[in-house]
Amino acid sequence: MAQTIRQALQEARRKLQEVEGAEPALDSDVLLSHVTGLDRAGLYREWDCALPVQAEKCFWELIERRRLGEPVAYLTGCKEFMGLEFKVSPSVLIPRPETELLVETALALLPPAPLVIDVGTGSGAIAISLASFLPDSIVYATDRSGEALKVARDNAEKIGVGARLRFYQGDLLAPLNGVVPAKGADLIAANLPYIPSDGLAGLPWSVRQFEPMLALDGGAGGLELYRRLIHAAAIVLKNGGLLLLEIGFDQARDMLELLKTRWEADVVKDLAGLDRLVVARLCAGDKI
Ligand SMILES: C[S@@+](CC[C@H](N)C(=O)[O-])C[C@H]1O[C@@H](n2cnc3c(N)ncnc32)[C@H](O)[C@@H]1O
Repeated sequence: MAQTIRQALQEARRKLQEVEGAEPALDSDVLLSHVTGLDRAGLYREWDCALPVQAEKCFWELIERRRLGEPVAYLTGCKEFMGLEFKVSPSVLIPRPETELLVETALALLPPAPLVIDVGTGSGAIAISLASFLPDSIVYATDRSGEALKVARDNAEKIGVGARLRFYQGDLLAPLNGVVPAKGADLIAANLPYIPSDGLAGLPWSVRQFEPMLALDGGAGGLELYRRLIHAAAIVLKNGGLLLLEIGFDQARDMLELLKTRWEADVVKDLAGLDRLVVARLCAGDKI
């Protein structure tokens, strides 16, 4: 006999109890919402109704995958970021709530109708949010991964900002050679991989096993890509242009060292009180 919503949720919560990083109640609700099409309030309204056979089968398949560590966002194929719904696949990092700090800071500091560059765009979370909240902006986004760029392009179309976004495949700013207008960009934003290579083994299993290594590995010391980006950024930004870089909680000092010539730089903490973002302005006259 088919299970009711209540029975299914109670059993799923029990199964997810011991899973590293799982939130048993929330994860079970989100996955059951996904297979039934009911929102969370709907699940509670229909608490004692029997689940359709197909929905029940899909639900237990997803709970089993969650039990093996697969992140909820890959199971549902979507993740909310800045109030927008992004499609995600295993070829992109799942956008993190911490990264909203970068977008909020950019929105507070940018002039009207800015020219923005997002380096290592992944799902397009930063580029698309900025394009969506700044209707007169033009946004260029790069990534080394062609698969990630496919996801980002789909998101840009779905969210309705495709006409003001351009995507380029390649290393950091290299694919923008000859593309950015001579006046330069107002902002370069980046949440590039910043985990030191020798720290990857310490990441949670679900991150190590399921998220793309290309989105995580920041090389020796973690700041290899940022070191190269900071150098290239001074060529592409206008005088007084902004560089916003997401960092790990213990990387502020090393980042400020990388920015000590040509940049006025500050560190912004996230809601947990941890260093999370470096805001650097290219000093007037220092454009290369
Ligand atoms: C940490 S993820 C961030 C994705 C997205 N910006 C976000 O905040 O959710 C880093 C992204 O940088 C890309 N990446 C790694 N090395 C790169 C490089 N050398 N040039 C351009 N993109 C790179 C990865 O493919 C990945 O999509």
